Amino acid sequence: MNVLVLGSGGREHAFAWKIAQSKKLSNLYIAPGNAGTSACGENINVSVTDFDGIKKIVLEKGIDLVVVGPEDPLVKGVVAYFKDDALLKDVAIIGPSQEGAMLEGSKDVAKAFMQKHNIPTARYQTFESSTLNEAKAFLQELQPPYVLKADGLAAGKGVLILDNIEEAEKELDEMLLNAKFGEASAKVVIEEFLNGIELSIFVLTDGKNYKVLPAAKDYKRIGEGDTGLNTGGMGAISPVPFADESFLQKVEERIIKPTVHGFEKDNIDYKGFVFIGLMNVNGDPFVIEYNVRMGDPETEAVLPRIESDLLETFEAVANQKLNEVEFKLSDKTAATIIMVSGGYPEAYEKGKEISGLDKSTDSIIFHAGTKLNDGKVLTSGGRVLAITSLADTMEEALELSYKTVQNITFEGVNFRKDIGQDLKKYFSEA
Ligand code: AMP
Ligand code: GLY
Repeated sequence: MNVLVLGSGGREHAFAWKIAQSKKLSNLYIAPGNAGTSACGENINVSVTDFDGIKKIVLEKGIDLVVVGPEDPLVKGVVAYFKDDALLKDVAIIGPSQEGAMLEGSKDVAKAFMQKHNIPTARYQTFESSTLNEAKAFLQELQPPYVLKADGLAAGKGVLILDNIEEAEKELDEMLLNAKFGEASAKVVIEEFLNGIELSIFVLTDGKNYKVLPAAKDYKRIGEGDTGLNTGGMGAISPVPFADESFLQKVEERIIKPTVHGFEKDNIDYKGFVFIGLMNVNGDPFVIEYNVRMGDPETEAVLPRIESDLLETFEAVANQKLNEVEFKLSDKTAATIIMVSGGYPEAYEKGKEISGLDKSTDSIIFHAGTKLNDGKVLTSGGRVLAITSLADTMEEALELSYKTVQNITFEGVNFRKDIGQDLKKYFSEA
């Protein structure tokens, strides 16, 4: 099979790394890719939303299967672009239709889907500028803290959690009347605050059958002890010790099954990943959000724990025969540490030379924001590298990853030193 992976982050390097190990692979291409993906296949400099450019690659290289990394091309309708094109319609594509992608593209659509299919989630209502008064009345019904969510995609910044009602009303005005998040906040979802511990569950579905991937926890804040600004993610651990057998059973029965059946019932063409952000509230799972792609950096911790041939699994997704393939997972723990540019997630410099990449054999080094220049690997983004190690225990996996991190350097490098520390207590209980 000839395969094209769309995207350029750590997630896409992890996909390329895993697919490169498949016995079914002939040629692998990544668009646009990064310095790391160029070791797994051929990078082609086409943007993930340049559908005509992607079509050209698919035809020129005889691509059989496309894996879509980020949500942007999905929300913009890349799947329909393929299905509606006589030359592309038989190419397999791993990613949901635009209708499916709206589960991430619109919080209101996602909440309505959950309500319709009885999937546990926080109580909510959706408002527009014309219903601002009703929105403020709904706030009065809720207890603090107040959760306001811009309906549309807002680069991960559209959720506000406010401690008092005055602030909540002020922010609501900003979102609905002053377009705080542009078009994305023309509608606002207000919902009940859920008190619990968060984790991410990943499912791969062919629209009818599904496989549950390893669960993961990510670390979103820049600072140790979960402080400071939100980032794309500073590390990940898989599995998640507080998601034990009985909790995961509840997740499957109450959330995964009704979600996949919901796709079938609502005639949503969904062949791809569902990333379910969950809150564990006293042992019961509630959905915080759906994403229609894999998480980053969770992918870098999750894919190394899949023992099966991922291309074989993807082929089964495309043929809607996911129930017929075996899907094997490793029992090991994966610990991923993200190395970022100094200053990230605020302004940072790019183009710093990275050294020490060839020193470690203990870990898998996934590239996120890197590029090749005259044979040198340079930084080219905020999140630069994702260092993953697998071991029998989380402590060992962390030790290996941090050892690798110590061997790699670039000017201004920063990383969190406390990844996994909050989970130690659960591992010792297990
Ligand atoms: P989202 O973009 O929907 O994932 O929200 C961003 C973050 O806000 C989540 O990762 C949670 O930490 C938090 N959050 C969202 N909704 C709620 C809620 N209903 N209760 C508590 N925290 C929430
Ligand atoms: N790590 C969170 C995300 O990919 O959205």
